[in-house]
Amino acid sequence: MLDQLEATRGELMKLVDAAADLPALEAVRVAALGKKGRVTQLMQGLKDIAPEARRDAGQALNRLKDEIEAALAKRKDGLGEAALDARLKTETLDLTLPTRPGGLGRIHPISQTIEELVQIFGAMGFSVAEGPDIDDDFHNFTALNFGPDHPARQMHDTFYLPPRPDGMPVVLRTHTSTVQIRTMMKAKPPFRIIVPGRTFRSDSDATHSPMFHQVEGLVIDETTHMGHLKGCLIDFCRAFFQLDDLPVRFRPSYFPFTEPSVEVDIGCSRKGGELKLGAGGDWLEILGCGMVHPNVLKNCGVDPTRYQGFAFGMGIDRIAMLKYGIPDLRPFFDADLRWLRHYGFVPLDPPSLAGGLSR
Ligand code: DAH
Repeated sequence: MLDQLEATRGELMKLVDAAADLPALEAVRVAALGKKGRVTQLMQGLKDIAPEARRDAGQALNRLKDEIEAALAKRKDGLGEAALDARLKTETLDLTLPTRPGGLGRIHPISQTIEELVQIFGAMGFSVAEGPDIDDDFHNFTALNFGPDHPARQMHDTFYLPPRPDGMPVVLRTHTSTVQIRTMMKAKPPFRIIVPGRTFRSDSDATHSPMFHQVEGLVIDETTHMGHLKGCLIDFCRAFFQLDDLPVRFRPSYFPFTEPSVEVDIGCSRKGGELKLGAGGDWLEILGCGMVHPNVLKNCGVDPTRYQGFAFGMGIDRIAMLKYGIPDLRPFFDADLRWLRHYGFVPLDPPSLAGGLSR
């Protein structure tokens, strides 16, 4: 029995050493210690041994079992490490490699600009609201205090669609101001929203496209006044154009839905035919705004003796062109990948106030 035991030990140890990988080692374990394994069988044979010799043989077998188990465990560790080493060698990831943003596509300047607007106004407590591109005469004009024969209706070069059965004219919205109405009719003040979205007018040249983008802003509560309008929009202009000392000017204007109405100009220089934003003695109009007209509040069921506030609207495409020096609006909508590669933004670098609005 003891001789047999020695021989078994020798063979099993060789097998353990020879196991080339973890599955092979497991097969050796089963062959040695499994239900029908060599050591197990030897243990079962103990009962046939003379009682005097049984104790010694039993102890020797237990030692063998322990040794085999220890050898298996050691080999398993070694093979595990080897397997890990092998994986580490093949599954390498070089973290020092530069990313290849080209392969991820580019963010369109309009999307980038909208995200910048959301970041800036978001930090001022505005949330984002939306409304439909196809709207009606009531939301686009009437509720915004455009009388039935108001000349501004013509100024908007409106695209009309077939009217509703009740005769209500249906339009492609000419401005995002429609969402002022939808927001105020849907909920109760206070409101502090921006509305980025598509707008449509029958107009087309280097700086006008029949489909373009606007962002609307609306703040309504019991205390907001013209000083808030000014502070908010000055802060916005300086944050957006990333010029802390950008001159900002408020010039009286007219819109049916605000009173008083104002247009906002930012400082620039046009020396040598080149437009440069910042102090330069010249001005460039970038948005319209004003205190929301009491008639508009009334049309939306908001009590103008209790609530007041301001609204603003600006062209997203236009401020994107200004900020990023893009001379022509038409290629914005041409889906030309060469243009997008040139003017687009890296997707891995979204705008944030803390991390920077743009590259
Ligand atoms: N809706 C105007 C337009 O499209 C822009 C505008 C001006 C919006 C003044 C406003 C505002 O909310 O107060 O020309």
